[in-house]
Amino acid sequence: MKIDTICVLGAGNMGNGIAQVGACAGYNIILFDIASLQLEKAKATIQKSLTKLEEKKKLSAPASQILSAIKFTSTLTDVKTSQFVIEAATERRDLKFKLFKDLDEMMAKDVVLATNTSSISITEIASHTRRAEKVAGMHFMNPVPIMLLVEGIRGLATSDEAFSTVRTVAEKMGKTFIEAKDAPGFAVNRILMPMINEAFFALNENLASAKDIDQAMKLGCNFPMGPLELADFVGIDVCLFVCEILHRDLGDSKYRPSPLMRKYVEAGWFGRKTGRGVYTY
Ligand code: CAA
Repeated sequence: MKIDTICVLGAGNMGNGIAQVGACAGYNIILFDIASLQLEKAKATIQKSLTKLEEKKKLSAPASQILSAIKFTSTLTDVKTSQFVIEAATERRDLKFKLFKDLDEMMAKDVVLATNTSSISITEIASHTRRAEKVAGMHFMNPVPIMLLVEGIRGLATSDEAFSTVRTVAEKMGKTFIEAKDAPGFAVNRILMPMINEAFFALNENLASAKDIDQAMKLGCNFPMGPLELADFVGIDVCLFVCEILHRDLGDSKYRPSPLMRKYVEAGWFGRKTGRGVYTY
């Protein structure tokens, strides 16, 4: 099926980034969110990012033209006009299961339904539809306009055809596509989250200060951000959620979340988005 219009479900940080790179790649985008305030914020974020990229001559069309390819909507029927869906809603199992059930009922039978989940089983999400062969993981990295990777994940029933569609869309968006198994954390978070978790254990043990732990990894390993800074950037609540899934589903105590990480989440110190995490913003 020819794909002209892509629906991105959820206008949060990941959703608006995906909508932006999709529009930059020449797709018409339907960016759906139930909250109109979230859509307004998404529009402002995309505008700001496109302006930056335009100043650096990194856009192939004027920013205003790219922005006009995105329809910001809270009307569910708008979603039906798309030939490919990328779900980027809040990382909650019940919410995603319900969304996929509804999408399955609403969308044309041949539409591929991709999910940007960072940790929930693709096979389980697909089981809430009657088109499991057309459901796949399409995991973007934050900040989406800058990060080059998309991690593709096949559920147990994902067809070669649907997976190849996901790859084609990701590559058209300028991303490098890797394939990971439908196992807890896939590839990126299976490796990244234990490192971030270990940094919280180290901080709790006063191994070094937060700033020095981050400097160690930045200057010692050439990471763009230290692990604690990155936890604040991703959201400590998100990190805890993924660590809990790794621990539960892999069943190995080496994945147990650091009590300090849990304490930050209990305090509502989620990182940049709440103004306080390991650091204060
Ligand atoms: N749109 C457009 N441009 C952007 C941008 C955006 N959204 N975000 C950053 N930039 C640009 C900046 O304008 C800047 O451009 P110049 O160099 O031309 O000035 C450049 O990117 C670098 O940004 P900054 O100067 O603000 O800061 P920085 O050098 O520290 O880079 C960063 C910021 C790109 C985020 C970098 O720190 C980085 O790569 N950090 C690691 C990010 C990472 O690991 N992400 C993956 C997280 S894991 C995940 O997402 C998966 C999951 O499931 C949790």
